[in-house]
Amino acid sequence: MMRRPIIAGNWKLNKTPSQTAAFIRETAPLVSGARCEIVVCPTAACLFAAREATRGSNIALGAQNMFYEDAGAFTGEISPDSLLELGVSYVIVGHSERRALFGESDEIVNKKTLKAIEKRLKPIVCVGESALQRQLGVTEETVRIQTKLALAGLPARDAEDVAIAYEPIWAIGTGVNATSAEANSTIRCIRAVLGEIYTAELATKIRILYGGSMNAGNARDLLSASDIDGGLIGGASLNSSDFAKIALSV
Ligand code: 13P
Repeated sequence: MMRRPIIAGNWKLNKTPSQTAAFIRETAPLVSGARCEIVVCPTAACLFAAREATRGSNIALGAQNMFYEDAGAFTGEISPDSLLELGVSYVIVGHSERRALFGESDEIVNKKTLKAIEKRLKPIVCVGESALQRQLGVTEETVRIQTKLALAGLPARDAEDVAIAYEPIWAIGTGVNATSAEANSTIRCIRAVLGEIYTAELATKIRILYGGSMNAGNARDLLSASDIDGGLIGGASLNSSDFAKIALSV
């Protein structure tokens, strides 16, 4: 396959540093033969422990958030340089929980995406419609606007370093996933938008993940769809054997 799939675990606000290290040590041997890129995204406070535990494994580190300035009077924020020093290579940007609970606008998502790229961190940019937007039939419009605004000003030469995660909000943490056909269709729409921003050829090289109640039981079906290039997994990524099963189903 031209696009190497990514299986990323978004742990959200779960696990302490010691639990993080234990999880990674338990999971590393289970996923050593996986064909995809594997990423775990612990909380910022657990990244140091995670770095130590991932050494020598094929598990890469991601952060769940990052600020768009290098330094200054921004109490409580996380700097990109600190993430780099902690061995982080991916950063989730614009997760719907950050948009809804922490007031992250499309403009902020764009600033964070551009800053990540400037720092050579690979952003995983989240887009996705709410239950109401889905009900009103504006899913495609929603992800179209979010994608265009998130990537505004991002030059073509950097586009391949971005991954998009399509995460329908109604599917997050609900146990109700989008079907592989539904997810694939919206992801194809996102790819078409990438083709409009850049070129159709470049759009075929950008990875687009699915997230929202992906688990060990439905991963194979979702990941076999033509345009789904991996998963951003919440709940099921907290369990070592489930996460490994998902990684091995690519
Ligand atoms: P769940 O897998 O728990 O639905 O969460 C998905 C998600 O939000 C990943 O970022």
